[in-house]
Parts: sequence; C-alpha cells; structure tokens
Amino acid sequence: MSDIAQLEQKTLAEIAAASDEAALEAARIAALGKSGSVSALLKTLGGMTPEQRKENGPLINGLKDRVTAALAARKDALKDVALDQRLATETVDVTLPLREAPAETGRVHPISQVVDELTAIFADMGFAVAEGPDIETDDYNFTKLNFPEGHPAREMHDTFYFNPKPDGSRLLLRTHTSPVQIRTMLSQKPPIRVIIPGRTYRSDSDQTHTPMFHQVEGLVIDKSAHLGHLKWILEEFCKAFFEVDQVKMRFRPSFFPFTEPSLEVDIQCRRDKGEIRFGEGEDWLEILGCGMVHPNVLRNCGIDPDEYQGFAWGLGIDRIAMLKYGMPDLRAFFEADVRWLSHYGFKPLDVPTLAGGLSQ
Ligand code: DAH
Repeated sequence: MSDIAQLEQKTLAEIAAASDEAALEAARIAALGKSGSVSALLKTLGGMTPEQRKENGPLINGLKDRVTAALAARKDALKDVALDQRLATETVDVTLPLREAPAETGRVHPISQVVDELTAIFADMGFAVAEGPDIETDDYNFTKLNFPEGHPAREMHDTFYFNPKPDGSRLLLRTHTSPVQIRTMLSQKPPIRVIIPGRTYRSDSDQTHTPMFHQVEGLVIDKSAHLGHLKWILEEFCKAFFEVDQVKMRFRPSFFPFTEPSLEVDIQCRRDKGEIRFGEGEDWLEILGCGMVHPNVLRNCGIDPDEYQGFAWGLGIDRIAMLKYGMPDLRAFFEADVRWLSHYGFKPLDVPTLAGGLSQ
C-alpha cells in the first residue's frame, strides 16, 4: 500500500473513532493542522518537479478532500448523537396539564361560593348583609321571636345548650338565623331590607341534615311590604340562583311562631339513585320557611305593628347548594376531604357576579 493510502486509512480510522467533539478536533489538528500529517504532505508538492506534481497533486489533494469530508460527516454524526441523548433525558410531556400558580391551586368551598352568589343576587335587589353571633341567648333565639316558654316549637329545634349560668339562663348555639332579625330590628330603624347568611346548629344528622348547617334569613320591614313582594323576591331569587328562566315553586301553609301567616316553600326536583336533580321530575324539596312578621315580634323590637309590617324568610343554603351543583350527600360538605373539594370547589378567582355570571 502506498504511503498516501496508508495515511488515509489511519486518519479516517482516527476520525471514525473520535467519540466526542474534543477527540474529533484532535484528529483534525493531527491531519490538517499546521504541522498535521496531511498538511505536511501538501507542503511536499512545492519541492516536486512538474511531472511529480502532476502525478502526486491529485492524490494528495484528493486525500485532503476526503479527510475534510470525513471530518464534517463525523461532526454531524456526533451532533446527532448529542441531540438524541438530550432528547432522551430531557423529555417534556406536552399532554400534561399546566401546573397552576400557587394562588390558584386552592379551592373555594361550595358553601362559600353559594353565599357569595346569593349575596350578589340580593345585593342587586337592594338588600344589605347583616350578621350576628353563633352563640345566642335563649331570649333572641326563641323568646323575642314569639316562642312562648315551654312551647313545643322550642323542642322541635333540637337545640345545643351551654351549661346554665348561676342565674339559671342558658346560652345556646343558634338554631336558626332568625335571632339576627331581632338584633337588626333592635339596632336599625325601618325601612329595613337585609339578608343574614350564617351558620346554624341543631342536634340532627342524616343524608340531608348535619349538626351545623347554613341558612340565609331575609327581612323586609316597611309600611306596605306584603306577601306578593315576598313571593316575587323568592321567585326572582330562585331564577337567578339556578340560572333558569322558570322555576316551579310550591307555597304551603305552615306554622312558625314568629310569622303570621306562615308558609313553607318547596322547589320541584327529581331524586334519582341518591342524586337530586333540579328542574325536572315530580318530587319537591323543601327549601325555605317564610311569612309576614308576627306583630308580637315587631312589638318585642320596639316597632309599632300598626305603622309597620314586613316579611321574612329562612332558606337552607346547603340544600340549594346540593340542588344546584348535584351533590348527593350533605355530610360531605363538612368532611374536609381535599379530593371532594378539588372536585366540587371553585377557583378563587371565579368570583360570582350578576354581570359576569354566577357560576362558570
Ligand atoms: N327560622 C325558621 C327555621 O329555621 C325558618 C324561617 C321560617 C325563617 C319563617 C323565617 C320565617 O324568617 O319567616 O326553621
């Protein structure tokens, strides 16, 4: 084999064996660098006779061209290998869901969301929000609401009482939001137009009752408030809340010591395999009690029943939340299961407004 062919074999073998860019660069310098083997051969052309140059020129230049091409090809191959390696170690699964920003990962409990929804609806009708304490006196929870001492309606409330005080009086966990009617009428002059969302407590537990639950009370006191207004308000509320054009409501005569007359309101729904569906079916779900405020209650709050009258209602928030969002068991509301919350909860920035939509 000629020297040139031998050199070519050796150089191409070195290039093929270069396993990274540094090794390839070393092979290039060894062949084509200033004092490389191929460069040295090229230099010999200058000292040759024209005949020798004619013979050897194409051989040496051919060698140089093939070495240059081999270097370029190896460089590309090494680049591909490096890219493949990167792709193998740095894979990105573009089908994964976006990671939420920390401020967006939390969820708003459906009850809080529903309280915000109904506050937006009633605020639009001109209602202010009033609040009162969860721990109440017997006087505000019962007596001033026209429950006589020893009246059986007191027993119906399954009240949680605190231990009696030395004077015999007992504080209790309010059994309804109605005592805040008393607090409002004692502290404000009519006309009054408030809603009172809040926690209420009764010793009761099954699929639709929990010892702590939520109500929103409504109270309107002025000179000419009447049942027609009440009915309109409740119907408008239900349409806005359930985001439908029509709701079927049923008003039944009932009894509450603090209203006369008293009514209970059912909303049409369907109960199916433990699920409650709204807007279909022939079942009725009781959602609220209401009526005209009893003159005794007005009197107990220093309001003259000959001058003022009004109406009130107490609505079960948990029930309407179950109905609207298809949640079958009330008890799950209070189990603090983060999986349930991430399924049924609301994004913190989805603030309900009438203009922007109550629920997305
Ligand atoms: N407080 C009643 C309850 O919890 C509900 C209720 C009925 C409230 C009639 C009212 C009303 O304001 O007028 O059972």
